[in-house]
Amino acid sequence: MFERSIELTVSNGVGTRPSDVESGNSTTEIELIIKQEFEGNVGCVVWDAALVLIKFLETVFSDLSQEDSKRAICNAENLDNVSVAKLNLSTFFYGNLPHVLKILELGAGTGACSIAVAALTKAFVYCTDLKEFQYLIDQNIGLNFDYFKGASKVMSYELDWSKIELSDLKNEAFDLILVSDCIYYEESVEPLFRALDHFCSNDAIVVMSIEDRTEKTKLVEKFWSLMDGSFTWHEISVHEQNKLFRCDEIHLFVIYKTAINKDK
Ligand SMILES: C[S@@+](CC[C@H](N)C(=O)[O-])C[C@H]1O[C@@H](n2cnc3c(N)ncnc32)[C@H](O)[C@@H]1O
Repeated sequence: MFERSIELTVSNGVGTRPSDVESGNSTTEIELIIKQEFEGNVGCVVWDAALVLIKFLETVFSDLSQEDSKRAICNAENLDNVSVAKLNLSTFFYGNLPHVLKILELGAGTGACSIAVAALTKAFVYCTDLKEFQYLIDQNIGLNFDYFKGASKVMSYELDWSKIELSDLKNEAFDLILVSDCIYYEESVEPLFRALDHFCSNDAIVVMSIEDRTEKTKLVEKFWSLMDGSFTWHEISVHEQNKLFRCDEIHLFVIYKTAINKDK
């Protein structure tokens, strides 16, 4: 095994509104430690698309911790450079800051995105993948427990998108669903769409990262054609992402069920 460290700036008192923090620095630098395997199936390492997603979420919470940008976002002031995707996501997080979010990660691999979001905001995070990755996710949750204990909880679950009816989570609904770099195998594209359709309620929001790979272009096209009709999506522009952790080949999308969000 080998480790990857992911540096993260988190608000003190995860999930509190920054104005609630009475004194001192409002943020803390932490270093998540994520164990990975040298060999194994695709989920055993942290993919670049996961890092881009994590560091983008960090920028969203960092913006929300600054009174000026928070006010601008909430009052839609000076928003010429803010995409619909980022505005909707920021508004979603701001509206939910006092609450404990219920978050599902699909195809979590090492669990890095789940662990990061648990450190960034107050949440119950259901970190899922195939059975073979449970030990790795559990190990990584344990290694980083100190960064979210007291505020958040991260739990690992087996969830095969093609066997949702067998999952302990089949009757659960979530506020936020994270999906990083999961359009990978032909046989998993339709099950991934079905899992999103099943778990994404009309009020929920999905944040998804996709890395361009020439050989996967057809799979990505198939995924969006399945999503078309049931979901609406907007892309986060590259300039809104973390300045160091971004690249033109990794795309971030904010996705909603079409029925309720058709005006967005
Ligand atoms: C490229 S890896 C990405 C892992 C992690 N999200 C990341 O970005 O670091 C794709 C993940 O999708 C998971 N996956 C593929 N097919 C699946 C299925 N049918 N049900 C659940 N997970 C699946 C794999 O096990 C793997 O962890």
